[in-house]
Amino acid sequence: MNTRKQIAVLLLAAVFSLTACAGAAPSSGAAPAAPKEPEPVSAASGSGEAPESGSEGEGLAPVYASQLREGSYDIKVHSNASMFRVTAAKLIVEGDSMHCVMTLSGVGYGKLFMGTKEEARKADESETIPFVKDAEGYYTYDCPIEALDKETDCAAWSIKNKRWYPRVLIYQSDSLPPEAWKTAP
Ligand code: HEM
Repeated sequence: MNTRKQIAVLLLAAVFSLTACAGAAPSSGAAPAAPKEPEPVSAASGSGEAPESGSEGEGLAPVYASQLREGSYDIKVHSNASMFRVTAAKLIVEGDSMHCVMTLSGVGYGKLFMGTKEEARKADESETIPFVKDAEGYYTYDCPIEALDKETDCAAWSIKNKRWYPRVLIYQSDSLPPEAWKTAP
């Protein structure tokens, strides 16, 4: 009897974890449903996820476009949130500015804003970054970048929940190919 109950509970938990983020990846059919997110208790727990270490990127000197050669390079992007996973990113260096086209693992975010969620709330729609679908239906976002190896605030708009979630990204210079550098780092 007890064992049956335990199995039922385990099955329910498995089904829940599989369906909680049905919108995590693009589907060929109808637009996937986004999960419900609990309301935040505080700014730090607003993402509904465990607090992150935040130590990565600390102690590193920021890298600016002026240190890099013009061009387009694959780059790794660290995110502080498991529910904001950058699966591919292309850094584009143009003179003294750079931007990055990021592909996310899911299709739940309708737009991004390069700043905190508080700034995103006040921002004009024209300041937000919409997604562009790639050939496989994944969402890509073309984001301006001030510096690599620096904690960068990014707010992500949940289509389902119609609210901003705070994320912290680090564009990792150590993932750039050697030819990206004007002088060796
Ligand atoms: C209580 C459970 C959960 C809640 C409340 C939740 C909430 C959210 C929210 C609000 C988003 C933002 C996008 C959207 O609104 O669709 C999201 C994205 C996502 N979640 Fe969850 N989630 C849960 C469980 C899970 C689980 C169990 C997994 C994986 C095993 C998962 C994986 C993801 C992924 C991959 C994304 C998309 C990330 C991206 O686009 O890079 N989530 N989730």
